Amino acid sequence: MAGIKLINISKSYKNKQILTSFSALINDGSFVLINGPSGSGKSTLLNIIGGIETPDSGEVIVDGKNIRGLRGRERVKLYQKYVGFIFQGFYLDPKLTIAENIALPGLFAKMKPADRKKRTAEISKILGITDSLGKYPAETAGGHAERACIARALFLSPRIILADEPTSNLDKENAEKVLKILQVFQEKTDTTIVVASHDESVRSFATKVITLGEANNENF
Ligand SMILES: Nc1ncnc2c1ncn2[C@@H]1O[C@H](COP(=O)(O)OP(=O)(O)O)[C@@H](O)[C@H]1O
Ligand SMILES: [Mg+2]
Repeated sequence: MAGIKLINISKSYKNKQILTSFSALINDGSFVLINGPSGSGKSTLLNIIGGIETPDSGEVIVDGKNIRGLRGRERVKLYQKYVGFIFQGFYLDPKLTIAENIALPGLFAKMKPADRKKRTAEISKILGITDSLGKYPAETAGGHAERACIARALFLSPRIILADEPTSNLDKENAEKVLKILQVFQEKTDTTIVVASHDESVRSFATKVITLGEANNENF
């Protein structure tokens, strides 16, 4: 089971201290909102959890493993197994079809083409985007691009989904839909969801809220 422990994380850029000895516990299967004003370090923290950025000091423990000690293949394997990232702005590669975009994690993980195809069909059915599989991102509508990003993040069935401002470019209705999809996954599959967002409407979906930009050590 894949909980996350953050212990005394500090991070600064140049002279600017973003996170100071920050600690928090993210329980397995929870839906956690990281909120706080713009510039408070939400994306930085999410990227540290996801291994995209390294803290200056402190430990990140994913499923009991300290990720600081992991290098090379071991690190890649951990992230393939545990972490799916939904990037800010729902970035998809415009030169790839929706199906190719969704299956990218499978390609990187060296899944066989037949297995990738099967998984693409399965996950796109769950997310209701089968119609768009052969299209390019620019040709899709009705929130299908956003859902394709979610499908890509879920492709390898990671235990943890990290999403940076997943509602920021969406109207209220589509924002609710995206959050609902994540919530249903969290409830059905016990996936841990961590959403960084300044959007207060995410709060009602969360089982725990971590607030940055205030006293940072009240999150255990
Ligand atoms: N790569 C970077 N280099 C320098 N400063 C950065 C970098 N990334 C973020 N920052 C700064 O760190 C602070 C926190 O940024 P961020 O984590 O993006 O906050 P949030 O997501 O809460 O808006 C901001 O002041 C931002 O300008
Ligand atoms: Mg941010």
